[in-house]
Amino acid sequence: MNGKRILLIVGGGIAAYKSLELVRRLKERGASVRAILTKGGAEFVTPLSLSVLTEEKAFTDLFDLKDEAEIGHIRLSREADLIVVAPATADLLAKMAHGLADDLATAVLLATNKQVLAAPAMNVRMWQHPATRRNLATLQADGTLFAGPDEGEMACGEYGPGRMAEPPAILEAIARLLDAEAAPLARGTPLRSLAGRRVLITSGPTQEPIDPVRYIANRSSGKQGHALAKAAAALGAEVTLVSGPVALPDPQGVTVVKVETAHEMLAATLAALPADIAICAAAVADWRAADEAPQKLKKQNQVEAELKLTLNPDILATIAKPGPKRPRLVVGFAAETENLVENATAKRRSKGADWIVANDVWPGTGAMGGDTTQVHLVTAAGVEDWPPLSKDETAARLLARAADALSALRSAAE
Ligand code: CTP
Repeated sequence: MNGKRILLIVGGGIAAYKSLELVRRLKERGASVRAILTKGGAEFVTPLSLSVLTEEKAFTDLFDLKDEAEIGHIRLSREADLIVVAPATADLLAKMAHGLADDLATAVLLATNKQVLAAPAMNVRMWQHPATRRNLATLQADGTLFAGPDEGEMACGEYGPGRMAEPPAILEAIARLLDAEAAPLARGTPLRSLAGRRVLITSGPTQEPIDPVRYIANRSSGKQGHALAKAAAALGAEVTLVSGPVALPDPQGVTVVKVETAHEMLAATLAALPADIAICAAAVADWRAADEAPQKLKKQNQVEAELKLTLNPDILATIAKPGPKRPRLVVGFAAETENLVENATAKRRSKGADWIVANDVWPGTGAMGGDTTQVHLVTAAGVEDWPPLSKDETAARLLARAADALSALRSAAE
């Protein structure tokens, strides 16, 4: 989205604070952002914070005659590649659906010939109200696209759908509209959802005991696997996260099963089936000690010592085997330090996975344990090179792709 121009309309909801984060992420990706605040939006975030972050004047009122002379509401829309409404409150969506134009934000939305992406944010009852349902249907028919909403705990204390999508998910939707290399979102794309779907994710390292005080492990932090669980839950899926020992909090709204060894991870994974989607992001130790010592091994002044290892079960290959319990979409990761795409392509075949997310874990990349990663998605159709993204953004993009793939599989079966 480098060089693209986003016109961000900030409505009056508590989620408005997340639009500040969205602006920062858009700017990091090379986009320029101009912001319009509704009157309600300006109650939650100040024009000053938005103008500092966007490095542009933040617009607030249609009847500011000086602005109208210098840069009219038509020009604000003409000079944008995409209009993003975040948060899109129930009130703002209602005005959009009915073509009201009583302030700058709604006047721009009515006058625009550009694609509009809305991130709804409201209380669950407002989201479920028949009036909001009608307005959404109208807007969808008009070609408005949507990112979210998520399901979860709300500022008002209630639980359910209506929470604004997280900035990485909105960013992902924007990237799919603006980046040529990203899979495009079709006009009128319905709200993407994994509601009613079961998603199983493995995360973190495993620890294989050598004796009561020592174990074999690896540098996996579990950040990517946990981000995937959060992203799946945000799309409304019922998520089971089978995790090795990590120093991360349990993601909210997710069933977390904590394990230590590869054998325990395999058992917990099989127990969590059936699932619609399985994503194996864990860095499972390939080997374990052939004989776990019952007592602490003493060094006995030995200059050299040998440790006999035996192969662990392959969890990904086990669940990807054809059979009635095989998830419809099985995704693995390939952590490689050389010949990344070749090795990942071979792993896809040998393990029977539908997709492999290949990431370079060469120490210089900072991917292992770090917050960002650059991956390649290997599918039966070929290899997609994704740009460097945070692990949250990678998770949002992968789950969006998985949700689309599942809908495509369902339509093909119908
Ligand atoms: N995996 C698994 N069980 C194992 C080993 C790996 O489920 N015992 C999964 C990982 O979660 C990942 C994929 O297999 O999704 C590839 O893991 P990776 O460590 O890259 O590959 P390995 O199978 O360990 O192969 P190699 O060590 O030869 O690269």
